[in-house]
This record gives sequence, structure tokens and C-alpha cells, in this order.
Amino acid sequence: MPGENFKVVFFLGKGGVGKTTCAAAFALGASTAKKTLVVSLDPAHNLGDVFGMRLGDVPKRVADNLYAIEVDFEKMISKHLKSLTDKIKDIYGHLRVLNLDRYVDVLRHSPGIEEYATLDKIMEILKSNVENREYDIIVFDTPPTGLTLRIMALPSISAIWVEKLMKLREAILDRRRIIEEFTGEKTRAVIKGKEFEVPSDKEEDPIYKELVRMKKEIDFINSIIRDSKVSMTVLVVNPEALPIFEAKRALEFLSKLGINVQYVIVNKVFEISETATLPKELSTKLAQEKEALRLINDYFKDKVVIKIPLLYEEPKGLDKLTSLSKYMNRLVNDVVA
Ligand SMILES: Nc1ncnc2c1ncn2[C@@H]1O[C@H](COP(=O)(O)OP(=O)(O)OP(=O)(O)O)[C@@H](O)[C@H]1O
Ligand SMILES: [Mg+2]
Repeated sequence: MPGENFKVVFFLGKGGVGKTTCAAAFALGASTAKKTLVVSLDPAHNLGDVFGMRLGDVPKRVADNLYAIEVDFEKMISKHLKSLTDKIKDIYGHLRVLNLDRYVDVLRHSPGIEEYATLDKIMEILKSNVENREYDIIVFDTPPTGLTLRIMALPSISAIWVEKLMKLREAILDRRRIIEEFTGEKTRAVIKGKEFEVPSDKEEDPIYKELVRMKKEIDFINSIIRDSKVSMTVLVVNPEALPIFEAKRALEFLSKLGINVQYVIVNKVFEISETATLPKELSTKLAQEKEALRLINDYFKDKVVIKIPLLYEEPKGLDKLTSLSKYMNRLVNDVVA
């Protein structure tokens, strides 16, 4: 079973709620017990700012047993496109007469390319860890909810497409075989006046073989992100209505994808004694927060809810992150167990 021996944790939530800070603090906490890698998948990186050091596209040691990456998006998209174009040229080599480069240029600007490239990157990191078992825990700091959900939905959507395409291809190959049996000759296609022999056998057909490879990749990523013993998605919210509504919708969407969420972090909880004499604005803020916390208890009844206070100083640097990670002890213990 892929990923059986390591754990994957995604931090997900609305913009600015504290995903990067929580992912960094969690990773630091986890690294005291297990070798941990934290990966920023947000094109607007600030994982390095949170740790207080420069990060790059290759793992950099941040503390004992803790490594971090800020994925280089330009490089990632170029690599994704190159692998796509190489495959297209390889599979459709006999169609060179059609000037495939023109189609390839269009791909760069096609919608969804960033999501596919990000999924490719997640896959690359996970596969490499299946092969080399370098890290015990891999933490993903993600871009705001919408983009992340689109990335997480890709394996399910792609699975539907690939299965349909495989059936379609099988039907085409079946028909070719019938024609071959009838004529006693290999099927030939004519493109722009040139004649090519085309395969009728699944084992020889490069398109069918590519679909099988894609299906394997989709099954691999699904087997990791849908297995709650391997992967965990942690929702981060603030004690405010909008991030909570968004998290509730995300939860429903993830559940449709077969992804289970066990933990909700309520970050930036403003804790102050209710008996203190407060200015009106602050008491209003506290009353709103109380209402938001009531909503959280209502919406996330079956989840473990972790509260992290609003700190007076921005939680940056290893010392402050270590203090912050203490609030996540239950999550850390659960993942490192
Ligand atoms: N518990 C906290 N107390 C005080 N400040 C906090 C806390 N958690 C996060 N912050 C601050 O809130 C801001 C946003 O945090 P962070 O960058 O981690 O959020 P994010 O969800 O990753 O944002 P983005 O969606 O832009 O990636 C930062 O300035 C961070 O230092
Ligand atoms: Mg962030």
C-alpha cells in the first residue's frame, strides 16, 4: 500500500486565516518526534517568512529533523508542460505532419494548467517518498480554499475521464481488430497523404498504454489522499462567520471526494476575561467571536476542534512557532503515533 509508512497532512482554509503559520508550527512540533518535510504550494509563498529564513525549490534544513520547500511555480509549470509535450510527441509521433507545436503552445495558456501542474508536483513529492522513504511526515501548506479544492478534486475528475477514454479506446481497437480479421491486413491510416500502420492491440497502442499509466497515477494519489490512516486534511478557520461558512462548504465538498477531515483549528481566538471592563468595540468583537465559536461547535460537532489564541506578537521564527505548536499537541501526537 503506497504511503503506508508515512503520513501526509494538508492545511486548508480561507486566505489569511493562518494556514502557513499553523502548518509551520505543526511541522516543527512533529519534527521533535519524526523526520518532517513541509512544502509550500502557495504561489504567494511566505513559509520562509514564517520560519525566518530563505527557502527554495529543494528541501532546506530548518531545524533538527525538519526540512522545508517553497515550490518554484515557473519551474513546476514548465516541467509539467515539457512532460506533456514529450508525451504528445512520443505518442503522436506519426502525426508530426500536423505541426503539433502549435497545439502545445496553446496548452500553456489553457485554464487549469496550474492546478494540474501542482497536482503533478504533489505526486512527484509523494512518489519520491514512497521510493526513498526520506520523510516520516509530509506537510502541505496550501493556497486559499478555492484553488486547493480544485487541485484535490482533480484525481476524482481525471479518474472519470480516463475510465471513459479507456472504454472509448478499447472500442476503437476492437473495431480495428474486426477490420483486420476481415481484410487479413494491419489497419492503416492516411494523414495528409501519408500512410501509417496503426495498432489494434492494447499492448501495442501507445494511447491505451498512456491511459493505463494515467489511471495508475490517479489510483496512487487517490489511495493516499483518501486513506485517513495516511492523509489528514486540517481545516483552519478564524472565529469569524465567513471563514467558518467557507470551511463548512469545503468539508462537504471534500466528503464528496472521499476525503475525511478530523481536525478543525480555530486560530486567532481573542481571549480576554469577560469580567474585564472593555471598550464597546471590543465587547462587540467578543460577542461576535462567541457566536462564531457557537457556530463552530454546531457545524463541526464530530471533529476535534483545536483553539489557538490570537497572539500579541506575530508568530514568526522557531521559538514562537514552538510555543504555538503546543496548542496542537493532540494533532501532533495523533500524526506521529
Ligand atoms: N495565532 C496567531 N496570532 C497572531 N497572529 C497570527 C496567528 N496566526 C497567524 N497570524 C498572523 O496572521 C497573518 C496570516 O497568517 P498566515 O500567513 O499563516 O495565513 P495564511 O492562511 O497562510 O494566509 P494566505 O492565505 O495568504 O496564505 C500573518 O501575519 C501571521 O503572522
Ligand atoms: Mg499561506
